[in-house]
Amino acid sequence: MNNSISQSIKDEDDTPSMIWPRPSSNLSFNPPLKLGVMSSGNGSNFESLVMATRTKLLDATVHLLVVNNPNCKAMERANRLNIPCVVIDHRKYSSREQLDLEIIKHFKAYDIEGIIMAGWMRIVSDTLINTYPNRIVNIHPSLLPCFKGHDAVEQALTNRVTITGCTVHIVRKDVDSGPILIQAAVPVLLDDNKDQLLKRIQIEEHRILPIGVSLAATKWRERNLR
Ligand code: GRF
Repeated sequence: MNNSISQSIKDEDDTPSMIWPRPSSNLSFNPPLKLGVMSSGNGSNFESLVMATRTKLLDATVHLLVVNNPNCKAMERANRLNIPCVVIDHRKYSSREQLDLEIIKHFKAYDIEGIIMAGWMRIVSDTLINTYPNRIVNIHPSLLPCFKGHDAVEQALTNRVTITGCTVHIVRKDVDSGPILIQAAVPVLLDDNKDQLLKRIQIEEHRILPIGVSLAATKWRERNLR
């Protein structure tokens, strides 16, 4: 195997994977990006994104985390990382629009220029999407357009695919359907269960999310959409 191919299928911890094409890393933005993150539960992508900003892998600051479930793990992570966090409990709003209007109010207060949906388990309304056109980025645990929806990892196992992965994409009205920014592939092993496969996928999610955000942001700044 020649050198460039072997590099493209070997990652830092020896998990076989592929990011293709490999974008130039360390894109810089002047001033740094002002990001907001939305998470519903665990928040590992939120934390890895914050760490990417602090290690300058991503030239940005995460100014606010929005969660919809009080006391979720993501909120604990925000407290530990000293990132402001607001709970906007969807159960208290009569419609998706009302919920999203409240979310917008908080992001506007921080002058956020881009939103990262990192495990946000609610469908967002046109109200949010149109307020931040091309500026909402989602991470999904499959190689879209395969396996849309909330059970992507189960779908991969049920369909006995041998390769799956994750996708970072721009959010559009149809769920898990916007333009793809970057993907990474991982193998599905013969005896995988959901947790094992998800763990393998999430290693790649944490790696490609900052790259996907950088790629999206080059367009935000180019088009001066603010
Ligand atoms: C990730 O697998 C992401 O792809 C999906 O939800 C999961 C969130 O994980 N949208 P975490 O909360 O970031 O750990």
